[in-house]
Parts: sequence; structure tokens; C-alpha cells
Amino acid sequence: MSVVIAIDAGTTGVRSRAVYSDGTLATASYREVTQYFPQPGWVEHDATEIWQAVLATLQDVVVQIDETITAIGITNQRETVVAWNKQTGLPYGHAIVWQDRRTSDRCLELAEYLPLVRKQTGLVLDPYFSGTKIEWLLTNRDIPQDDDLCIATIDSWLIWNLTGGKSFVTDPSNASRTMLFDINQMQWSQELCQILNVPKTILPEVRASSGRFGATIKHGSLPAGIAISGVAGDQQAALFGQACFAPGNTKNTYGTGSFVLMNVGTTCPSPKDGLLTTVAWQLGSQKPVYALEGAIFVTGAAIQWLRDGLNIIDRASDIGPLAQSVSDSGGIVVVPAFTGLGSPWWDTYERGSIFGITRGTSRAHIARATIESIVYQTRDVVESMTSASGVTISDLRVDGGAAVMDFMLQLQADHLAVDVLRPKELETTVMGVAYLAGLAQGVWDSTEDISKAWQLDVTFSPKNDPVGYETWQSAVKRSMNWSHV
Ligand SMILES: Nc1ncnc2c1ncn2[C@@H]1O[C@H](COP(=O)(O)OP(=O)(O)OP(=O)(O)O)[C@@H](O)[C@H]1O
Ligand SMILES: [Mg+2]
Repeated sequence: MSVVIAIDAGTTGVRSRAVYSDGTLATASYREVTQYFPQPGWVEHDATEIWQAVLATLQDVVVQIDETITAIGITNQRETVVAWNKQTGLPYGHAIVWQDRRTSDRCLELAEYLPLVRKQTGLVLDPYFSGTKIEWLLTNRDIPQDDDLCIATIDSWLIWNLTGGKSFVTDPSNASRTMLFDINQMQWSQELCQILNVPKTILPEVRASSGRFGATIKHGSLPAGIAISGVAGDQQAALFGQACFAPGNTKNTYGTGSFVLMNVGTTCPSPKDGLLTTVAWQLGSQKPVYALEGAIFVTGAAIQWLRDGLNIIDRASDIGPLAQSVSDSGGIVVVPAFTGLGSPWWDTYERGSIFGITRGTSRAHIARATIESIVYQTRDVVESMTSASGVTISDLRVDGGAAVMDFMLQLQADHLAVDVLRPKELETTVMGVAYLAGLAQGVWDSTEDISKAWQLDVTFSPKNDPVGYETWQSAVKRSMNWSHV
């Protein structure tokens, strides 16, 4: 049986996992990644640590499998940028992570270019995307702008290292998150590169998500010559892994943040209010597939905050039982806007808040209101997606770490009034990029093969009348612009 190794270089950690041609997942290895918070609103990673962690997990997996490895796929935290020198192989300081808000004021200054950004990139002007982060690196760090400079997303950095510096490449799903890539023309935007003073020569070549990116050189137990043949941002990989191949198919991943993506086919749609248009993937020489996206920055991260910040739970898995120990949230609303709000609000200065606290408020109420905030934020996004696209979703496929909570998914079905489908395999990000890599190498023949491999675990159908949504919307509005007042 053929085997593909998927590398999932996420925000909180990296993993490598072997995926067999019959769709079964095998050996996995995981390493956490250090999070740096040098100032309020700043979030950084050490790119060298990420590379070494990825290599260590790959080597762990390689030594445990007997079969020849047919391909490697890479999926990654998106928008995060790293600058490095081709000669030394060393990064110029820490990578700036997608959650980082240091360019908020710069985005306000650039407001006149919003229509151009919307039209060419499908994004909005927000510090979330790589563009202003790259400009910040070039302006604020001592980086010589010569032929040896590379600035790119984490996928590029990993491929460059895996190939021993031979390939400086990325894929359109990652490029489409930089705010420098024209998703209509499928090339780096001359205008946007000029506006942000980014020379195109420091950016990677963009190749189809399923195709050929290069081959490994020998790194200890990792053999030379393995094709790197699939690359996609983690959310687009999850859409692929959820077999959302037909226009209208929609998924939500409940991870650190939550990202609702709807496949909208091969024609790039006009910008939709509050939402992003993004490249979902491109298979070989086929036309790219586009997606509408609602990006919610904090969902599972709010659970981590209850654990690490407030210490009201010991483990993430405690939140479900604690929330269900009370019959409602006792009138409180949690708005977990720790890093501003993304879709559909796009308020970079909103911050977290809890409303309606009384003497009777308990940790269980806070836990329950936190889960409700995940559901409400998803409803905000799905409703704007439905009204913007004119397409009513028939069901929502779900995955991610927090999607194990039946209680939350039932509430989600009630609030969306559609079926919420949880597949047996929740590792959709890993599966998605394994499929992209395997398709290019003939491990799988077509997307039909992948659709057949997708198996349903549970359907959550709407059954209760949803309550509390209007109060949520009022709470969101009251927290707006908080860090700016
Ligand atoms: N048993 C559980 N119950 C509720 N929430 C959980 C449970 N286990 C994990 N989580 C939540 O799931 C989130 C992690 O999910 P996942 O691993 O999908 O994240 P991710 O966004 O992919 O992370 P990364 O960016 O590192 O890839 C955590 O934020 C955690 O709060
Ligand atoms: Mg992930």
C-alpha cells in the first residue's frame, strides 16, 4: 500500500502523520511550538524551532513505517510570515503570527486602498493578513534587501528547508492570504506590492496546490528524493479533507479560531460584505477553485483561556461537562474578541468582554457562555454568507478540536436551522493535504475517490428554539473599538 506523509504545521503545534492509500491514518508525531507575546497584541514564533519540530516529527514517523513514502504534503497556519537569508538559512528574527495586531494603525492609514484590496485579493484591510506584516518586517528590522532575501509563509519556509534551499515556492491557497496576490489573475499584484513597498523578487513562485514543489534532501532518517506534491493553508486543506468539492458545500473547523469555508466553484465571485474570498485550491493545470470564508479569530482559544488564564478548568475537555452543569448561562454573554473581531464585523480594536455579571454568576455560567460565543460567532458568519452568496447551505460539515462537543454542535444546529454533520475522521486538515499530495502522485485517482472515503459519524439536526442571539449581537456592538477609546 502507498503511504503519504502529511505535515500539519499549526499555530499551537506541528504534527506529521502517515496516511495510507485506503484512507487510514497511521503513525503520528506531535511537537508543541513556543508562543511569544513580546507586547500586548503581538504574537511571534521562532521559525527555526518550527522547522526543527517539523523535521523531528517527520523523522519520528519515517522510522516507524516500512513502506516507501510516495509523497509529502504540507498544510500550515496561514498568513504568518518569516523573513530569511538564502545563504545563511537563518531567519531575520521571529516570524509574525496571523493573530498579531501590530499593523492595525497602518491598516487604517491604507483605508483608501480598500476597494483595490477587495477587488484584487478578495480580502479586507486587516492586520490579520501578511501584507502589512511583511511591510513591517522590511521597515523595522535590519534586513538587507538583496538577492538573498526571502519573505514568505510557513509552507514556503518548510519546503525551502526540506529541499535544501532548492525550491522557493508556495501555493495559491497560501498566496491568497498575503494581501499581495491577485486571485483573479492568479499572480502577485504589481499595484499592491508597490503600495506596501514589497519587491516581488523576495516572494516565492506560486505553483498549483496539487503538483510538484520539489523533493526532499536527506535529513538524518528522512530519505532524499521524496516528492513534495501537495500544499494548502490549513483551512483550505480542511475544506478538501471534508470532501467539499461541489459549489455550496460548506465546512466549519472549531480549532484555535473557527473558519467557515464555502466552495463557490471556479469563477472568482465579486467581494461579499464582511466575508473573504479566497483560493481554495488548484489541482495541477485545472482552474482554481474559490471559496467564501468567514474567519473567526477566537473560539477554541477562549477555552484555552478558561484553562490557562482563569484556571476555571484543568483540561479543555472539562468545559463541556461544566457548561452542561447549569441549564443556561445565567444571563451573561462572553465576547472573546481577544485579538479584535474578524468576519463579519472586522473591528481590529474590539476586545474581549463579559456582560451581565451578577452575584450569582459562577464558573459554569462562564463556561457555558463561552461555548455559546463559539456558536453565535459561527451563526454571524453563516448568516452573512447565506445572504451575500444567495446560496442557502444545506448542511454544515464540522471538524477541529472543539467539534468533539455534542452539546455545542446541537446548539449550532438549533441556531443555524440546518443539519450539522460530524465525520468519523476529524483530522480533516491532515487528510486534505495528504489527498492533495497523493492525487499528484497517483495514490488517489480523483476527487470521487476522496468523496467515497468521507464517512459520517453523527448528524445533529435542529430541534430546540434558539435563544440569546439578539443579546449576543448587542454585546458585540457594545465592545466595539474598545482598545482605541
Ligand atoms: N475535549 C475538548 N472539548 C472542548 N474543546 C476542546 C477539546 N479538545 C480540544 N479542544 C479545543 O480545541 C482546540 C484545538 O483544536 P485544533 O487542534 O483543531 O486546533 P488548531 O486551530 O488546528 O490548532 P493549530 O492552529 O495548532 O493547528 C483548542 O483550542 C481546545 O480549546
Ligand atoms: Mg490545525
